[in-house]
Amino acid sequence: MSTIQILGTGSALPEQIRTNGDIEKLVDTSDAWIQERTGIKDRRIADGAAGESVASLAAKAAARALENAGKHPEEVDLILVATCSPEYLLPCCACQVQAEIGAKKAVAFDLNAACSGFLFGLQTAYCYLQSGIYKNALIIGSEVLSKLVDWEDRGTCILFGDGAGAVYVETVEENGRVWSMVQGSNGAKGMILSCKERDLTTPTPDLFIRMNGQEVYKFATRQVPLCIEEALQQANLTVENIDLFLLHQANVRILESIAHRLKVSMEKIPKNLETRGNMSSAAIPVLLDECNRAGKLHRGDTIVLSGFGAGLTYGACIMTW
Ligand code: ACO
Repeated sequence: MSTIQILGTGSALPEQIRTNGDIEKLVDTSDAWIQERTGIKDRRIADGAAGESVASLAAKAAARALENAGKHPEEVDLILVATCSPEYLLPCCACQVQAEIGAKKAVAFDLNAACSGFLFGLQTAYCYLQSGIYKNALIIGSEVLSKLVDWEDRGTCILFGDGAGAVYVETVEENGRVWSMVQGSNGAKGMILSCKERDLTTPTPDLFIRMNGQEVYKFATRQVPLCIEEALQQANLTVENIDLFLLHQANVRILESIAHRLKVSMEKIPKNLETRGNMSSAAIPVLLDECNRAGKLHRGDTIVLSGFGAGLTYGACIMTW
C-alpha cells in the first residue's frame, strides 16, 4: 500500500539575533530568569526593511526543501503554509510562495492551527496524498511572531522567535510508513493564548499575543504525553521503538516534563529553542531540517512529531523517516 515519506527538508531564518541581554533593555527581566524558566538564550527577529517576511522566509525554506529532495518547483502538486502571522489575509501566503518559487501547477492554501499548524498541515497533506488526489506536497511552517509580540510584556516577549521550515513529501510504495496520527482541539480553552485580528471598529484594539503562561504550561505538559501515548497505542509501538521525538519547541521545562512523563531520555528529544525561541508553526520543520542536515536522522528511523498550541490544538504523528 502506498504511503507518504518526507524526502526533503529546508529552513530559513532571519539574520538578526535578539539575545536575552537585548530584552533586558526592554522589560524588567534577566538573562538568568529567562534561561532558567524557558531554556531560551536568543532568537531570530525578522527585519521587514531587509525583505524578511513570512512569505519570503517560507519561499526560501520551500526552495531548500525541494533542493534537498532533488525536485523541481514545477513538479509540486500541493503547497500548504501553516502560519498565524501572515503579511496578507489575501492573497494567502501559500499562493505567494507558489509565485515566488515558480510552482506553477501547485494548488496552494494556508491553514492556521498556531503551534500545531505544521503538524496539521502534514496530516492534511497525508489525506490528499493517501486518497490519490495529489502525488506530492510542500508543507511549510512560517512565522514572524515578533510583530505580534508586545515588547512591553515580559510574560510573552521573552518566548518567541521568527523563522520558517519546510518539508517535501511524496507518495511512495515502499520504505515510508505513517504509523499513526492523532489530532485534537479544545476551543473552550482558546482564550488562554490569543491574538486579536485588527478590528477597526474598536477604538483601541489589542493586537498583541496574550497568554496565561501557567495554563498553557499545564495544558502542554498534560496533553502532549497523552496524545503521544495514544499515537503509540494506535501504532502498536512503545517509546522504546522510537528513535527521535521531534516536539514543538516552546519551553525546555515543557520538554523535560514530557520526557519524564513518557520515561524517555532527553537525548531522544532534540531541541533548538536555546537559539531559536518558540517559532510556533515553524518550530517542528526547522528542527527537522536541522536534525536532517546534522545527520541525526537515518532512513528507517521511527520518529514522533508532536505539536501543541493556541486554539487550543495538539497532535502527534508517528512515521518512518
Ligand atoms: N522576567 C522576570 N520575571 C518574570 C518574567 C520575566 N520575563 N515573566 C514573569 N515573571 C515573574 C512574574 O511576574 C511572577 O512574579 P511574582 O511571583 O512576583 O508574581 C514570577 O516571575 C513567576 O511568574 P510565573 O508566570 O509563575 O512564571 P512561570 O514559571 O510560570 O514562567 C512562563 C512563565 C515561562 C511563561 C511559563 O509559564 C511557561 O513557559 N508557560 C508555557 C507557555 C509557553 O511556552 N507558551 C509559548 C506559546 S504557546 C505554545 O507554543 C504552545
